[in-house]
Amino acid sequence: MPCSSLLLFWVLIQFMVRSIIASSPASASASAPTSASAPQVLAPYCEDKCGNVSIPYPFGMGDGCYYQDPNNNFKISCDQSTTPPTAYFDTSFPVFNTSLLTGEICIRRDISYDCYGNNNNNHRRNYTALVNIRGFTISSTNNLLIAMGCDTYVWFTGVRHGKPYQTGCMTSCGSLEEVSEDACNGVGCCIASLPDEVTNITTTIGSFSNHSRVPFNPCSVAYPAAVNEYRYHKMDLSRDLDFYMKNRIQVPVVFNWAIGTHNCSVSQAKGNSLCKSNTLCVDPPNQDGYHCKCQDGFTGNPYLPRGCADIDECKESNECEKPEYCINQIGSYHCKCPKGYHGNGTRTQPCSSDRKSWLIPVAATAGVAGAMIILLVIGFYLYWKHGKIQHKRMRESFFRQNGGLLLHEKLSGRKIDGLKVFTAQDLEIATNNYNDKYIIGRGGFGIVYKGILGNNQHIAIKRSLKVDPRQVEQFINEVLVLSQINNRNVVKLLGCCLETEVPLLVYEFITNGTLYDHLVDAVKASILTWNTRLNIALEVANVLSYLHTTISTPIIHRDMKSMNILLDDNYTAKVADFGASRLVPEDQGQVVATMVQGTWGYLDPEYMQTRKLTEKSDVYSFGVVLVELITRKKAICYDRPDDETSLAMHLLIKMREGELLNILDKTIVNEGTIEQIQQMANLATCCLMVKGDDRPSMKEVAIELETIKRIGSSPWISKDGSFQEDMSVSESLLEGYPRSGTSGCSSSIDIDLYNPRLDSILADGR
Ligand SMILES: *[C@@H]1O[C@H](CO)[C@@H](O)[C@H](O)[C@H]1NC(C)=O
Ligand SMILES: *[C@@H]1O[C@H](CO)[C@@H](O)[C@H](O)[C@H]1NC(C)=O
Ligand SMILES: *[C@@H]1O[C@H](CO)[C@@H](O)[C@H](O)[C@H]1NC(C)=O
Ligand SMILES: *[C@@H]1O[C@H](CO)[C@@H](O)[C@H](O)[C@H]1NC(C)=O
Ligand SMILES: *[C@@H]1O[C@H](CO)[C@@H](O)[C@H](O)[C@H]1NC(C)=O
Ligand SMILES: *[C@@H]1O[C@H](CO)[C@@H](O)[C@H](O)[C@H]1NC(C)=O
Ligand SMILES: *[C@@H]1O[C@H](CO)[C@@H](O)[C@H](O)[C@H]1NC(C)=O
Repeated sequence: MPCSSLLLFWVLIQFMVRSIIASSPASASASAPTSASAPQVLAPYCEDKCGNVSIPYPFGMGDGCYYQDPNNNFKISCDQSTTPPTAYFDTSFPVFNTSLLTGEICIRRDISYDCYGNNNNNHRRNYTALVNIRGFTISSTNNLLIAMGCDTYVWFTGVRHGKPYQTGCMTSCGSLEEVSEDACNGVGCCIASLPDEVTNITTTIGSFSNHSRVPFNPCSVAYPAAVNEYRYHKMDLSRDLDFYMKNRIQVPVVFNWAIGTHNCSVSQAKGNSLCKSNTLCVDPPNQDGYHCKCQDGFTGNPYLPRGCADIDECKESNECEKPEYCINQIGSYHCKCPKGYHGNGTRTQPCSSDRKSWLIPVAATAGVAGAMIILLVIGFYLYWKHGKIQHKRMRESFFRQNGGLLLHEKLSGRKIDGLKVFTAQDLEIATNNYNDKYIIGRGGFGIVYKGILGNNQHIAIKRSLKVDPRQVEQFINEVLVLSQINNRNVVKLLGCCLETEVPLLVYEFITNGTLYDHLVDAVKASILTWNTRLNIALEVANVLSYLHTTISTPIIHRDMKSMNILLDDNYTAKVADFGASRLVPEDQGQVVATMVQGTWGYLDPEYMQTRKLTEKSDVYSFGVVLVELITRKKAICYDRPDDETSLAMHLLIKMREGELLNILDKTIVNEGTIEQIQQMANLATCCLMVKGDDRPSMKEVAIELETIKRIGSSPWISKDGSFQEDMSVSESLLEGYPRSGTSGCSSSIDIDLYNPRLDSILADGR
């Protein structure tokens, strides 16, 4: 009897250990094709490594070792004279890494810089055309565009869908003290993100005052860089021209590659596809050409003529109950129970004997087994509990690091209705572990995910890119600002989560996307009727007016733009993104900002020069939004003449020339609306006045929009349908409520609106 119970104990332990192994994900992934040790080369004399960088086919070194294609260049040269040897792509770009799975190649690129010396012997250096080889495009998801400097703006221009494309960012700082140690957050360093399919990228650097006000920072620097690979340290801001001349600095950039220029179906029809036996052909998103991939159950380099080889799953860890039950098949395997047994033979569904005799010994020793199980369960419970405690400690440390305490302190004494604290787990489940499929927005600040909570409530989750004290500050700022606001036209903050490594904000999910998306897309724009646009303008004006005047501590939004106006199913506007917003302390009226922050094309020129932030900066940005609504043109666009790249200047110039009608969005112009549209254009010019004092307040703007709306509901119709050339501002602006500034927006368009400095800034960039 003692012997048989010992035996049973052993069987039980075996069983437990096995089921633990079977359920552990680590062992499942260990079944990865480790047997694929065959060299990934075309011919026996080809090498598949240069130093420790692996060079898999279609890349290769030496004649006959790489895939020759008239449109692509897969030749790599290996310089053995360095230690370790260096692989070069296209003879001059060092290769960092290549990936067959994702069709990526990581190449080191020079940075561009623009330095100013003591006696104005300044030296510029720029480079054009990152990689101009067909079939290679810069990866949008794996790169960021970085600019560094304290008096710096940077344009990245390129070609997208055959049209010129531009993006950029600006960064300034008053002293090195205000720059954070190694986080690229807008002070001394800024980040722009990159859309898909941009080629021929060129970097252009400019400065506002030749770095003369920031002697501690002689150079502006810009470069695209692989996400997580960019090097930024505060001390880089002190580097001068000498440094960059002596040290060649290179940064990894990820490019996408594909085979040929035709997609799978075309190249397979032509019969020249590289994807051979046991492979699949895959069309890469947003790129010409195709990729090859091994089918499930096969391994190897899918681009080699011999194709992929079967994986012998029976030689690797597999699901069978015992190794001898495993039978390999081409592309898969199965488990077979021995004679006299039945079942699937897997660990989860093991073989069972055809006879039922096993019942008796189990019953006889059930007591012992029960005791054993209870002991083991207790053991597991203690182990699990220990893990839980450790996990909890980690979450608590994230909570502290993420400003949880600061937030707690700042919020104490304030009433925050319904703000929920989400657990890390809630949000992981809601976004399927931050699956890429759930991404709905991306930018320098971080990533926005869509999420679905257990109760089927849809939410949007904002997750910052990096742990960095300044971003945490912005995050806390946003919570503080939003907790003050209760307005149906402001995106509602539902709660936050501070237990994760980077803080997360949770918002209500707004179904219909941004106003910008609607204006850019011709089909969506056609749904935005004039009345809808007028309502959106009015709703946003009311929100801003509410922020500036109604609440106890006024708030300046600071980043008003069509991308920050969301629309719901009924096209009700919801203002979003208060990360940059400022609470204006009472009796102060203005805030001196340490850094100029905002978006090109929407930035108030007065604020840019004086760094003094007032609510009139929001009025300016809102003016640009109004112009977008009536013209459907982008806030910055380089297709227009140089002095009209900014939409604000474009409108002002066209109005001065009496050509407003030519730039309006044709789909909203008709007899019934022209008067209203013209009034809105007039209102926009008031908002775009160079001097903040000359601009109307948001409250006045809202009242004027209300008036414009009333014109539409009155039976007024232009008698001859002709367009009035009179550009003077609607009378209603000037009456009925007190004016804040002395001059007001009473003048018609005059030369004052023409800001030569802004123009020279914009022109200088090209
Ligand atoms: C390559 O090898 C060198 C030295 O052998 C090592 O320092 C370096 O980290 C390696 N690089 C990679 C990418 O593995
Ligand atoms: C190579 O690149 C991939 C993705 O681009 C990355 O995950 C991997 O860590 C890189 N490997 C090395 C050695 O840098
Ligand atoms: C830098 O780029 C600008 C604009 O493309 C060009 O006019 C200028 O000549 C370039 N400077 C150098 C040094 O290449
Ligand atoms: C990209 O640059 C190359 C070489 O500089 C040029 O031949 C090509 O036309 C450019 N592509 C576009 C779309 O402008
Ligand atoms: C910057 O330098 C350029 C050329 O050296 C000069 O023309 C320009 O006036 C300078 N601008 C300022 C604001 O100092
Ligand atoms: C492949 O390309 C051809 C021609 O450009 C196009 O007609 C076809 O729709 C494409 N097929 C796929 C699956 O994209
Ligand atoms: C065995 O596996 C097959 C398919 O793999 C499944 O249909 C069947 O239900 C399984 N049998 C048992 C007893 O679980």
